[in-house]
Amino acid sequence: MPDLSQHTKNILGLQLPTDPRWVDLAGISLEAILTDHAYCEQKAATTCISLIQRYSDREKLVQELAPIVSEEWGHFRLVLNELKKRKLQLGKQRKDEYVNKLLTFQLKGGHPEDRLLDQLLTMALIEARSCERFKRLSEGLPDSYLRNFYRRFMESEAGHYTLFIELAETYINPDKVRKRWKEWLDYEKEVMKEMEIRGDRIH
Ligand SMILES: [Fe+2]
Ligand SMILES: [Fe+2]
Repeated sequence: MPDLSQHTKNILGLQLPTDPRWVDLAGISLEAILTDHAYCEQKAATTCISLIQRYSDREKLVQELAPIVSEEWGHFRLVLNELKKRKLQLGKQRKDEYVNKLLTFQLKGGHPEDRLLDQLLTMALIEARSCERFKRLSEGLPDSYLRNFYRRFMESEAGHYTLFIELAETYINPDKVRKRWKEWLDYEKEVMKEMEIRGDRIH
């Protein structure tokens, strides 16, 4: 069987597609959705920094995540710029219900390797779902400039999603990665089912 990173190159593996009504709601709350998106990019950058600090002895992880920090920060700046261009304000950061629910599924104790696995898979999942949401925006927003804007984000986050899976397979047995990934996908499906459809949030 091929490694999971190979196996999933062309599919996101997510089990519940986003409700099509979401993109319509997002289209009419641009300031809120751009604000939320800006903070998602910021959190992606800071989480990569935390992973580098926590796992400084894992050379590949450090080397691979260092440029992602710059890329995510670049994404943050792109969104910030888009707000400014449209004379919209960067609002307050909200409580991130989706991410908080994912975090409760992470193993807290146990073997350090299992914790690393969960941290990498959490990131892979957030990237995958963001990628799916950006795809929706790139297809469904009324503004053609923004559709293109989100197409570029979608491509970039697809690359990140596979990178986190590849990193997991670097340090942990690929069979174990595959098995745990499946558990994460099942869990995420339940989380998504419970989430209210709101146009002011990326997730
Ligand atoms: Fe990003
Ligand atoms: Fe990303």
